[in-house]
Amino acid sequence: MLRRLFAPLAAFAFIAACSSGTESSEPENIYATEEGQDSHSYARPLEARVTHVSLDLTADFEAQRMVGSATLDLEIADDAEEVVLDSKGLEIREVVNGEGEALQWEIGEDSGDAHGAPLTVTLDGAEQVKITYASAPGAAALQWLSPEQTAGGNQPFLFSQGQAILNRTWIPTQDSPGIRQTWDARIVAPADLRVVMSADMLTPDGETLEDEPELLAYRFEMNQAVAPYLIAIAAGDLAFQELGPRSGVYAEPSMIDAAASEFEDIEAMIDAAEDLYGEYRWGRYDLLVLPPSFPFGGMENPRLTFVTPTILSGDKSLVSLVAHELAHSWSGNLVTNASWDDFWLNEGFTVYFENRIMEAVYGEARAQMLADLGWADMMGSIDDAGGLEAADTQLHLDLANRDPDDGMTDIAYEKGAVFLRTIEHTVGRERFDAWLRSYFDRNAFQPQTSAGLIADMRANLFEGSEADEIDIERWVYEPGLPENAVHVESPRLRLVDRAAQSFAGGGQTANVAWDRYTTQEKLRFLHALPRELPEDYLATLDDEFGLNEANNSEIRFAWLMLAIANRYDPARASVEEFLTSMGRRKFVAPLFTALSEQGDWGTPFARRIYERARPTYHSVTTGTVDETLGWEIEEDA
Ligand code: BES
Ligand code: ZN
Repeated sequence: MLRRLFAPLAAFAFIAACSSGTESSEPENIYATEEGQDSHSYARPLEARVTHVSLDLTADFEAQRMVGSATLDLEIADDAEEVVLDSKGLEIREVVNGEGEALQWEIGEDSGDAHGAPLTVTLDGAEQVKITYASAPGAAALQWLSPEQTAGGNQPFLFSQGQAILNRTWIPTQDSPGIRQTWDARIVAPADLRVVMSADMLTPDGETLEDEPELLAYRFEMNQAVAPYLIAIAAGDLAFQELGPRSGVYAEPSMIDAAASEFEDIEAMIDAAEDLYGEYRWGRYDLLVLPPSFPFGGMENPRLTFVTPTILSGDKSLVSLVAHELAHSWSGNLVTNASWDDFWLNEGFTVYFENRIMEAVYGEARAQMLADLGWADMMGSIDDAGGLEAADTQLHLDLANRDPDDGMTDIAYEKGAVFLRTIEHTVGRERFDAWLRSYFDRNAFQPQTSAGLIADMRANLFEGSEADEIDIERWVYEPGLPENAVHVESPRLRLVDRAAQSFAGGGQTANVAWDRYTTQEKLRFLHALPRELPEDYLATLDDEFGLNEANNSEIRFAWLMLAIANRYDPARASVEEFLTSMGRRKFVAPLFTALSEQGDWGTPFARRIYERARPTYHSVTTGTVDETLGWEIEEDA
């Protein structure tokens, strides 16, 4: 691991040497640095780089394909003869230059995993290439839902999920987070649906097409260069409700009122975020509530955050997720990890920022509880990774030859946030905030690496020997958790821990103020209980707190994990109902894993539920659960 220790110094020297201040963060330079290379893309950006993508696609719901063309503008080094793009499963029909003349192209060998295959186009001097193509029916980024899979039940639904390397299954471009591209799109879809994208929506109601009354065309434009994983689309029976001057929410009509009231604080969150770290630069901030199969909690698509309906709790108790996706408008969308090895730069900064928004809008006690719960999640992830010595407990990872998904743990999220909190506590909030605001400005619309961050902190934040005292390189490039880690502790959760202890001791709920607990306290109570409990204790919890029927998805999940660990029969119907009602991977995957660890009690039950639910889940979720259950695709039929 010695090599890693020297890497940041080398990169710092590189950046320092070519900078007299301003060029230090030129995007061109980063591709030449060690950490600026993206092992998950075939692109060779130093030779030829996509700068703009223009999509002209029809959403063919019958064939479950996007069909049409992508026209790419290129920036080409003097001697480059070809451009290499990413693709997976695309059916390429033709490639031409700006004048419509055919160009030679070739699809290389498919990696057999998420990477897909390089699509190499011989340029012959062309600075623009137009690719006519169709996505495959099983494209991993796209989920085509039948009407029965929606709340309304009348119209089909389509949505995309690009992060981390899925967009290459429907857009032939350089699918690397460090290669920012502006883009526009014209999308044709059935007239009963509304199409939305993560961009300026130029035609909110669509435009009619001559001779094709059953179709509408929508146009979109993103003039700010974004990482290509942030290009996103959805189409369905969508209503819209304004929430504030620059915000609103899209959802199926039957859910729009619930969504609007759940997210009523969104303007206050945007204002708080701007007060902290500078202007919101994307114009509008809208939310889109997806059907329940959406595999993530949220996805920070620019101007249009995608969220799971499982955060509609009715009491705004899960809105920290919205604060999180909003925070990505700075950390992630403005300053973007150059490769998935530095995923923590996106997520660690965002968890830190999310917590500051929550503190500003909902007060210190709530922020403390969230931070303290996050600390426990981090400890859990360190355990899962194999303990403090495990290489995967590093912030900066080496994910070459691995799926970027492997880095999607609470190490990136919560250890990343704890690192920043540790710095904040060392230099003081005022200095830290001033630096972070300036960091976003300095690096806006650019990729970033761990080495680049460290160089920026050393140049613009730390004084004297502060950086060495905190030992920032160790934090970033070594496993484990340094002793100086700042653990924000919540006094309210301490009380809950005691209540859980008292319940675990005798099965009495006298000290458990359940009805007065916030959702965060309820979650802590369930987490703090021993994993093994007598059956009558579980019955008491269920009877008194209605846990099998809990509408709050996080509480329901925490309860079911406990119930399964104890083979608690009265929870079986609740498990089945929950697993067949949504496809959020964070809930679905651990529940199936827990069931499959319970032998005869759990494994056959898990397989029966999965057989029913699998066709409704997104590929992101089935990809994980297939592995857990050793599911053979043949069993699919
Ligand atoms: N950008 C992530 C989602 C993501 C990460 C998708 C990596 C694909 C690959 C998003 O911002 C996120 O972190 N979502 C979390 C919720 C958040 C509150 C921690 C989720 O979906 O659970
Ligand atoms: Zn995130």
